[in-house]
Amino acid sequence: NAVATPRELRILLAGPRGFCAGVDRAVLIVEKALERFGAPVFVRHEIVHNRFVVESLEAKGAVFVDELDQAPDDRPIVFSAHGVPKSVPSEAQRRNMIYVDATCPLVSKVHREAERHHREGRHVVLIGHEGHPEVVGTMGQLPEGAMTLVETVSDVAKLDFDDTTTLAHATQTTLSVDETAGILAALRDRYPDIQGPKKEDICYATTNRQAAAKKVAQQADAVFVIGAPNSSNSKRLVDVAHQAGCPKAQLIQRANDIDWSYLDGVGTLGITAGASAPEVLVTEVIEACGKHFDVTVEEVVTAVEDVEFKLPRVLVA
Ligand code: F3S
Repeated sequence: NAVATPRELRILLAGPRGFCAGVDRAVLIVEKALERFGAPVFVRHEIVHNRFVVESLEAKGAVFVDELDQAPDDRPIVFSAHGVPKSVPSEAQRRNMIYVDATCPLVSKVHREAERHHREGRHVVLIGHEGHPEVVGTMGQLPEGAMTLVETVSDVAKLDFDDTTTLAHATQTTLSVDETAGILAALRDRYPDIQGPKKEDICYATTNRQAAAKKVAQQADAVFVIGAPNSSNSKRLVDVAHQAGCPKAQLIQRANDIDWSYLDGVGTLGITAGASAPEVLVTEVIEACGKHFDVTVEEVVTAVEDVEFKLPRVLVA
């Protein structure tokens, strides 16, 4: 009785994928805070949007809370990579808490720009997704009413500023590059004098991951994006794969999410991972594929990254 040989599956691995410099730094901040202050260290909000990362840090003594009032005064607290409204550090200060801000420096840059526009008398139009913690954090840099959120081109059509209002734009860092270009064009069309960065504030990591995912998706019959359902940049990678014409693209958190029948008829599978998904999960998915198929893995590299961010001073000895 001949044992059936498994079907061949060609895997195209997008490069870059997975952890960006901001996520790397945020995870390291929690680890360093645990070393320096001992457990427990509190963390406001999921430090990055990934269950696996959160659970690994919990095992080391991190305690995740939704809001500051769920943490005691006498333990250190870390703010997540997405950024926080100004009210959060000021409340921590008022309570004399030790806090470490893990906001990605590229998000902080958007915050500072928004403040500058506000100081110079401009109303800020923010392109982003309502309710996402980064958007909540960015809007919370300015007083209530100083910023307006738009999510789509039709939101731009609904804006109603009078002629005396001068405007500036800013964006969430993890949006779809292509979609945002459309929204920005609509904004500039309606308000030709609107100020802001030349392109948008979408970060290098988001841009690079989307470009690599697009390249892979163009050659694949299906794409797996490894990432969490609440991870904005991961969801955009699924959108990008669809828009690149790939018939199937799916967000999975881990190997055991895979419904193997999804790969029926798939000869080439693209794999990428969102900026908050660690490489161990990519390895896990490839190994799981290896149990079902005769796999070959090729990496499709569209950019090489060497971005690194410094740690906050309080953690550097
Ligand atoms: Fe920062 Fe971009 Fe990562 S804003 S946290 S480098 S996805």
